[in-house]
Amino acid sequence: MSKSDIDFSRVTVVDHPVVARDLTILRDKDTPPQLFRLALSRIGIILAYQTLKVLPTTEVEVETPIQKSKGHAFATNVVAVPIIRAGLGLVDAVTHFIPEAQIGHLGMYRDEKTHQPVDYYSNLPSELDKAMVLIVDPMLATGGSACDSISFVKNKGAKDIHFMCLISAPEGIKRLQQEHPDVPIVTAAIDERLNEQAFIVPGLGDAGDRYFGTE
Ligand code: PRP
Repeated sequence: MSKSDIDFSRVTVVDHPVVARDLTILRDKDTPPQLFRLALSRIGIILAYQTLKVLPTTEVEVETPIQKSKGHAFATNVVAVPIIRAGLGLVDAVTHFIPEAQIGHLGMYRDEKTHQPVDYYSNLPSELDKAMVLIVDPMLATGGSACDSISFVKNKGAKDIHFMCLISAPEGIKRLQQEHPDVPIVTAAIDERLNEQAFIVPGLGDAGDRYFGTE
């Protein structure tokens, strides 16, 4: 599996000096949790900005101190869905721009032996069918967690779904594109490959452990 297998018309790799610097901080094994969290927050804001570029708007009237004019309002609700745990670190990035966004939660961990996702919690707002749904998770490795999460929100009615992550493996992107070709991906980096333990190489290790300081 390599980058040449990816359909880049459905993937945005955010290219930005701040992202490049912060990815380096995140990858560094000696970065302590407090700096890891800050770097993840900053990249998250840039990724959310990019992901929200396609949020539909409607024209509204606004009255400036000078005269009436035309402005814009969001045409749909935004629902951020972090994949617990590590995805929680990206929620603030979405609410930074959309304070009124609803937050759904999906609890999922990857079995260390089988590498298959295991669901353990879900709590989603209603009327997902009318919302722009952003599933957020720092890591897209095999794609199992992302694909299950997307299937879950689709079963609850979601139609306009976007996946936002920091680091992705070509294998995960390929799988997501095969199973959910309708879901655009925004990522900060596409790494080389997965290793035998299905960890992203070079990656940054276990994002959840590093963010929460539990390693
Ligand atoms: C990590 C990561 C993703 C998943 C990616 O979570 O945050 O959710 O693995 O792997 P996949 O693409 O192969 O499914 P992890 O299982 O470490 O749980 P955690 O967030 O609770 O640490």
